[in-house]
Amino acid sequence: NNDQYLLAIETSCDETAVAVIKNETELVANVVASQIESHKRFGGVVPEIASRHHIEQITVTLEEALQEAGMTLDDMDAIGVTEGPGLVGALLVGVNAAKGIAFARQKPLVGVHHIAGHIYASRLEKEFEFPLLALVVSGGHTELVLMKGHNDFEVIGETRDDAAGEAYDKVARLLKLPYPGGPEIDKLAAAGEPVIDFPRAWLEEGSFDFSFSGLKSAVTNKLHNAGQKGEEFRPEDVAASFQESVVEVLSTKTKKAAEAYGVKQVIVAGGVAANSGLRARLLETFQETDQELLIPPLKFCTDNAAMIAAAGAVAYRQGHRAGWDLNAHPGLDL
Ligand code: KG4
Ligand code: ZN
Repeated sequence: NNDQYLLAIETSCDETAVAVIKNETELVANVVASQIESHKRFGGVVPEIASRHHIEQITVTLEEALQEAGMTLDDMDAIGVTEGPGLVGALLVGVNAAKGIAFARQKPLVGVHHIAGHIYASRLEKEFEFPLLALVVSGGHTELVLMKGHNDFEVIGETRDDAAGEAYDKVARLLKLPYPGGPEIDKLAAAGEPVIDFPRAWLEEGSFDFSFSGLKSAVTNKLHNAGQKGEEFRPEDVAASFQESVVEVLSTKTKKAAEAYGVKQVIVAGGVAANSGLRARLLETFQETDQELLIPPLKFCTDNAAMIAAAGAVAYRQGHRAGWDLNAHPGLDL
């Protein structure tokens, strides 16, 4: 039997997740234990609480995944784990669990980059065709990544300040919405109209970089000035106007970069890829182009271990191996 199985662990932020993948793209188990409820009352992820939850959850999540797969650790060919970037204490729980399993069962160990995972979530649906362009939009990252082959990443543009998801979360806080703010703004925006003309940060001609801190300040100022003048804005319209600005910049720059690099596919990755406004605009943008658009189903957009398994299985085939000195790398580059 030539089937290959890889078990992957993801603990970089506030989800404890374990998945098992067969032959690089067939998911046989996918379990995610979310901690969102524990962080909500603090309005964001508290690193120390996240680490403690991971410690409590990692063993049960692992057992649940093996049960779902109907397999044991001995059936695995390799163990993959997110080594970074992320919260150091959170990452350490996954890295040490993976090392423990790999050492005890004498299995090869593969370190996976969290963003590579977000990008490979799309390969669970469709085979990659290179060159391809990935728009990575998460809570910590906003990047345009060019791939000329498997596990070959070139960042051609990135945010100079806030990540797109971070901007969503900050504006949500201004509107007094609960954490995580992205999905809340998304819902609110659907009921509003983009009547406020917030700025778009295009930056220099030809640049594929992004900037969202000016937009966040513009929303802050608008709400503050409106309060002083006794003007009223519907929160729905503020959300819709903010989202319109983010979506227009992201989709326009992605289209320009896709043309400039002559890519065959365009992938949208990361938590903000779950945004309904962004999904709709990108579908429209790439409808009549030569590029094929791949957007993962919602459950593979936000953090999960299926995507880490998908990236890890390719790295394993390519011969990537981590040593027993594998460590957490909070600021790991792609
Ligand atoms: O990829 P992810 O789960 O974690 C990181 O690696 O950062 O992304 C989380 C981010 C958060 O900022 C969250 O607010 C945002 O993704 N997000 C959304 C939506 N769902 C999640 N932003 C906008 N619209 C959504 N529907
Ligand atoms: Zn993520």
